[in-house]
Parts: sequence; C-alpha cells; structure tokens
Amino acid sequence: MAKNIAIDGPAGAGKSTIAKRIAKELGMIYVDTGAMYRAMGLFFHRQGVSPQDEAAIAREVGNAQVTIRYENGQQQVFLNGENVTAQLRTEEVGRMASKVSVYPAVRKKLVELQQQMAAKQDVVMDGRDIGTVVLPQADLKVYLTADSRVRALRRVGELREKGQECDPQEIEREIRERDYQDMHRDESPLRQAEDAVLVDTSQMDIDQAVQAVIRLFEERRAEWK
Ligand code: DC
Repeated sequence: MAKNIAIDGPAGAGKSTIAKRIAKELGMIYVDTGAMYRAMGLFFHRQGVSPQDEAAIAREVGNAQVTIRYENGQQQVFLNGENVTAQLRTEEVGRMASKVSVYPAVRKKLVELQQQMAAKQDVVMDGRDIGTVVLPQADLKVYLTADSRVRALRRVGELREKGQECDPQEIEREIRERDYQDMHRDESPLRQAEDAVLVDTSQMDIDQAVQAVIRLFEERRAEWK
C-alpha cells in the first residue's frame, strides 16, 4: 500500500517548501495540488471565462486537460499538452484559482487525478482539502498554519528576492481575502481535519517545521510496526 502524507493549510503557510523537503527526505513524491487549480485558473483566464460564470465553467471544464509529470524530481504541470508550470505562481493566477476552485465540476476532476496519483505511489500532497476530502485515509495529516502577518512578510521576502517591489499591507490584505474565500466556500472548504495534527510555523524556520513533520511521521511509522 502506498504511504500518503496530507498537508493542508492557508496560503503562504510554507506548505509547498516544507512538503517538498519532507518528500525528499522520506523518498516520497511531492504533489502540489494548488498548481493544478492554478492551471485551471489559467485555462479559464485564457478562455476569457468569468470566474463568476459557473455555467460556462461547467461547460468548458471538459476541454481542460491537466496532466502532471516529474522532470528531475520536479513537478511539471501540463495544460492541454503545454508545460505551464512557469506561469502558475503569479498573484493573478492564484486569485483566479481560488475563485474557480469553488465549483464542484472543477474539484471533481482534480480530486480524481489526485487520488489516482496517491494510490500508485508514496506521496506528500499539499492543498486545502487533502486530509478532509482527497485522502481521508492518509497515514499522517498535518494542518500547517502561521499568523497572517508572518505569512505576508514571508511572501514579501520571496517577491523581493525576485526583484519585485510590493506593499506588505496589500499582500497581507490579499492573503486574508484568499483565506476567507478558501474557508467559507460551500464545496470542500479549508478546515483542519479532526485527525490532523496542527503545526503552527509562526515561530519556526523551515528546518524546524520539516523536522517537526518528519518526527510525527516517524512516530506513526513506529506504531505500524
Ligand atoms: O496553494 P495555492 O496558493 O497554490 O492554491 C491556489 C488556490 O487553489 C487556493 O487559493 C485554493 C485552491 N486550492 C483548492 O481549492 N484546493 C486545493 N487542494 C489546493 C488549492
């Protein structure tokens, strides 16, 4: 049986950085589900479909083929055969992803793809509904969070490293807006699964957070033996 670790939490909690490192240390595959929703967001943006137009989204969703491949251990996302990985990390695509991810037609398609991937191989999967909906039987569930101010400052640091100037207050406002949207939608809202372990990284650096999750996994592993 494939081993699965589910990591959920709000935007900017460090999920992808931490999940990637954990996967590497444990020899598992990292699956970034946010990138799949971002690819869908990009698709509807390109099609000129309004994120408010649920009927058009339900109609068009069948024309978006999202596939995942790994190149040198890095996840690559293909949209109808085109590698769109480099176009997914902008704030605009993130906002679009958050908006279109509220629709059942979009979620159903991506959840199926995620479940297939997790059944075949050992994965560390991160997102918003992994512990609650996608992998309810995951071997370990972690809810990774941090204070919204801390998350905004981390994001500002990342953008500045890329040479992009930004307003920290504006970034925090966007983060809170996205949290609200992700937590208050009807379909699979972001919430901590009952059996998930809460890891608050506000006072932790990456190494500490990675080690905290690996310790939790080792404890579980000891219980199976
Ligand atoms: O983790 P991220 O910022 O790349 O995710 C982008 C958006 O996609 C996020 O605001 C909500 C949505 N999403 C989701 O609904 N379910 C997931 N499992 C992952 C992401």
